[in-house]
Amino acid sequence: MKKLTIAIDGFSSCGKSTLAKDLAKELNYIFVDSGAMYRGIAYYVLQNKLFINGEPDKITLINKLDEITLAFEYNPEKFESDLLLNGIIISNEIRKPEVAAIVSKIAVLKEVRTKLVKTQQKLGELGGIIMDGRDIGTVVFPFADIKFFVTADPTIRAERRYKELILKDPTLTLAAIKANLDERDFLDTTREISPLKKANDAIEIDNSNLSREAQLAFALKLIKQRTIGL
Ligand code: DC
Repeated sequence: MKKLTIAIDGFSSCGKSTLAKDLAKELNYIFVDSGAMYRGIAYYVLQNKLFINGEPDKITLINKLDEITLAFEYNPEKFESDLLLNGIIISNEIRKPEVAAIVSKIAVLKEVRTKLVKTQQKLGELGGIIMDGRDIGTVVFPFADIKFFVTADPTIRAERRYKELILKDPTLTLAAIKANLDERDFLDTTREISPLKKANDAIEIDNSNLSREAQLAFALKLIKQRTIGL
């Protein structure tokens, strides 16, 4: 069968990466978490203390973008790729709340998006890729073979993220996580450049009441239906 390009978009913490990883394993495709790349830039801002009056110093960041290289490297011990910022693994660092707190403010920047979209398109040149994010079906791969738009009830999303993060940081509260998700959803859907929206030809999956296995089975069935004859 032809090596497909599969785009998965949706709100924060609604299981996009889980679906993308499961599909990639099932189909033996490359999985790319594009959100990790935006988080990588946000981590660079924190690491280099690029702030003015407590807000990310956008102008300095834009001037330094050429000094930033992000790359994925497969880690056979974890059965997934690590993200490297200028050669250093930052896979754990980018999941920290400090990164989540500023990443949407970084993702609004045109220059950041142009740089990352270019890298993402290069990663997808050969097909056989599943990428998740906010603008994959609309901007990165507008001609993707299959597009999914994943949604879930906001309270369920916050609870899922809480269960995941509380193991690493017991001081976190459900309310703080919900507030961060709400803020990110707002910024991601209302930004001027490439806001999160469902592509016209995307298939919506609401996984509020779907198990991981049921979601995977549903997506695989749709992929098979759509690709008969390809
Ligand atoms: O999927 P995530 O929560 O790790 O994404 C982190 C942030 O990056 C999120 O607030 C929106 C932004 N993002 C984006 O603007 N475009 C993408 N393709 C992926 C993520």
